[in-house]
Amino acid sequence: MTAIAATHTLPKAELHLHIEGTLEPELILELAARNHIVLPHPTLEGLRAQYEFTDLQSFLDLYYANMAVLVTEADFTDMTRAYLRRAQAAGVRHAEIMFDPQAHLARGVPLTTTVAGITAALAGSEAEFGITTGLIAAFLRDESEDSALDVLERLLAMAAPIIGIGLDSAEVGNPPSKFIRLFRRAKEAGLHLVAHAGEEGPPSYVWGALDLLGAERIDHGIRSVEDAVLITRLAAEQVPLTVCPLSNVRLRAVDTLAAHPLPHMLDAGLNVCVNSDDPAYFGGYAGRNLDAVAEAFGFGADTLERLAGNSIRSSFAAAERKAELLAELATWRAGQGYPSPK
Ligand code: ADE
Ligand code: ZN
Repeated sequence: MTAIAATHTLPKAELHLHIEGTLEPELILELAARNHIVLPHPTLEGLRAQYEFTDLQSFLDLYYANMAVLVTEADFTDMTRAYLRRAQAAGVRHAEIMFDPQAHLARGVPLTTTVAGITAALAGSEAEFGITTGLIAAFLRDESEDSALDVLERLLAMAAPIIGIGLDSAEVGNPPSKFIRLFRRAKEAGLHLVAHAGEEGPPSYVWGALDLLGAERIDHGIRSVEDAVLITRLAAEQVPLTVCPLSNVRLRAVDTLAAHPLPHMLDAGLNVCVNSDDPAYFGGYAGRNLDAVAEAFGFGADTLERLAGNSIRSSFAAAERKAELLAELATWRAGQGYPSPK
């Protein structure tokens, strides 16, 4: 078996995943019919024809528009279960899943509907799919900090089972400095802190996410390679960077996969892992992202193990769960027929 085919069996954690970005076109049409919603592109071909992006914003426009089909708790549950099933097939053993509460509130969907729908699916994940999970509330950086604070307070008041907060949506022009109070409040509430930075935005946004927000993980972070001092710091502190190669290609953050900075980031000793971001929009789930970089860069078992090990160690899973998954990873190579490392 080749390294490329084996990526689906590699035990891994997925740390950068927007649950709304897992809405496959077929499910969008099914939910639209169920909820009597007339979409601007009501056929599979018509819908699929929209999946050509020029940048992050061109994707976000479609991503938010397609959320219109998510109305009831059952819709959120069905979407989340569909993701878990696909993640299981991709070898994901632990998933930390972001959702965009403000985007649903803005459409009139109550917070309780969104949270209850997603958590109903997560509750059965370990038993049904063998995937442990954590839920992260991501805040829209192109909205105000007051709006984010209001929604965070509501999530805390309803004891929503979130493990952390994130920061997503349109990056350029919405720097981390806009959300200092939000992250301070979340930390005070005992939540983990992650933030998108350096996807389209400059390296200064990565510095800001670390120093102004206290982010424990950086989502994307690929533009860090433009700043040698930042790279030295990220390597020294082993800050986790949740890289999403197929997303970066589809959103034109990089020209081609061959031009992706992942090999350079690995060579620099950074703590990178590979994730799918919005897999229904970008051409594949976690296994497919690993397949793509393995093929583009000729990664062998050592590198794949390193990427998977980073994902597990960088997760917010309990220490025992991390140990269990790392032990599983240690036996993976033997099962694939790879030579053991010397
Ligand atoms: N929301 C969903 N996907 C995103 C991405 N790749 N960047 C920023 N916000 C997002
Ligand atoms: Zn993302």
